[in-house]
Amino acid sequence: QQAIYTAGMSGHKPTVPIDYSALEAAAEEAMSREAFAYIAGGAGRESTMSANRRAFERWRIVPRMLRDVDSRDTSIELFGRRLNQPFVLCPIGVLEMAHDEADIAVARAAAARGVPMLFSNQASRPMEDCAAAMDTVTPGAPRWFQLYWSKSDALVESLVARAEACGCEALVVTLDTTLLGWRSRDLDMAHLPFLLGQGIAQYTSDPVFRKSLAGASDNGPRPKITTRTLRNVLAAARHFPGSSLRALTSGEALAAVRQFIATYSRPNITWADLAWLRERTRLPIVLKGVLDGADAKLAVEHGVDGLIVSNHGGRQVDGARASLDALPEIVAAAPDLPVILDSGIRGGADVFKALALGATAVGLGRPYAYGLALAGETGVGEVLDNLAADFELTMALAGCADIAAIRAGDTRLVRDET
Ligand code: FNR
Repeated sequence: QQAIYTAGMSGHKPTVPIDYSALEAAAEEAMSREAFAYIAGGAGRESTMSANRRAFERWRIVPRMLRDVDSRDTSIELFGRRLNQPFVLCPIGVLEMAHDEADIAVARAAAARGVPMLFSNQASRPMEDCAAAMDTVTPGAPRWFQLYWSKSDALVESLVARAEACGCEALVVTLDTTLLGWRSRDLDMAHLPFLLGQGIAQYTSDPVFRKSLAGASDNGPRPKITTRTLRNVLAAARHFPGSSLRALTSGEALAAVRQFIATYSRPNITWADLAWLRERTRLPIVLKGVLDGADAKLAVEHGVDGLIVSNHGGRQVDGARASLDALPEIVAAAPDLPVILDSGIRGGADVFKALALGATAVGLGRPYAYGLALAGETGVGEVLDNLAADFELTMALAGCADIAAIRAGDTRLVRDET
């Protein structure tokens, strides 16, 4: 954090705004209307999105004085690995709409800082490319894979095997998106299928998926081709070998998008299915999207290795409780599991509050997507460095020298009565 202040003294201005609201506003300016709507938006009337923020605002930190905070340690241990900061990069799909370098730029920024990147199942770049990009920056930098449980068992097996081969250290199963939420902003623009075409790289690079597509050409209804749809279909077609034009004219790209929509999710999965997955991977299994202590208990009973308390950034169930409000009961129900909190983390104080309420670490979503949109790898890097510095300062000024002190409750949180 010292470096960030002294850079300011020498007149060096940050590339992306430090404050989250300013960051979001700048990203809105820089992005297409559709891209911004997709990233910024939530489900329905976005009441859960705002509840996520209100939940953080309701807690106040009670700083303690005269505790030696000269030497500070923000590191944690997670799945056998020491991390310098208690945060991870949440999986975000379709990043190509934010920046041409998409997941690759994120991979480089994450690897340079040792922050685990969670490869999205809806990524714009295959996990192999991201893993290779990370390894050129820092060999073996931490990465996990996020799975949407497909209707095709063979595809799930293939994705899991690829994640293991890429050096992923955990398998995150996202449970809250068996169906896509009611996203008003996207529905208004009717651009989703085309947009999703930019988020199917894990599929089009997969041998099982490709086999299921072999020879496919698309016989479904033709979309009305406007400049916008053309751009999106072309972006999807880019993920096919050979010329984009060939993929486009043969209908192969459209067929892939339709095939993806038909198979990406299996809404009939239940707790009993976890045993099937357990047999197929040696990786820790982390469930993402848990919001009820009862489900956390079931997760423990089914032998999972970690939880992500999340409402998908308010993008799935409008009206769902705030993620932070669910955290204490989930920590109580699964006291021996690492619990990561996402949805609404915007600054260092939020990280502090989540850890004080029992989280092992937090997950960052939209902020890094905005950093990416504004300045690619540099933008993501700055967002991460700023959060790290802000958190370290908050921790020290609140009277904690390390994470153990926060989690032990050495500094209290109180409810805001105003
Ligand atoms: C997401 N999220 C998400 N989650 C997931 O498991 N797989 C995915 O592919 C995506 N894709 C995705 C795209 C976009 C544009 C957003 C904003 C979010 C959810 C994400 O992992 C995380 O749960 C939330 O983003 C966290 O909330 P905040 O930090 O964005 O408020």
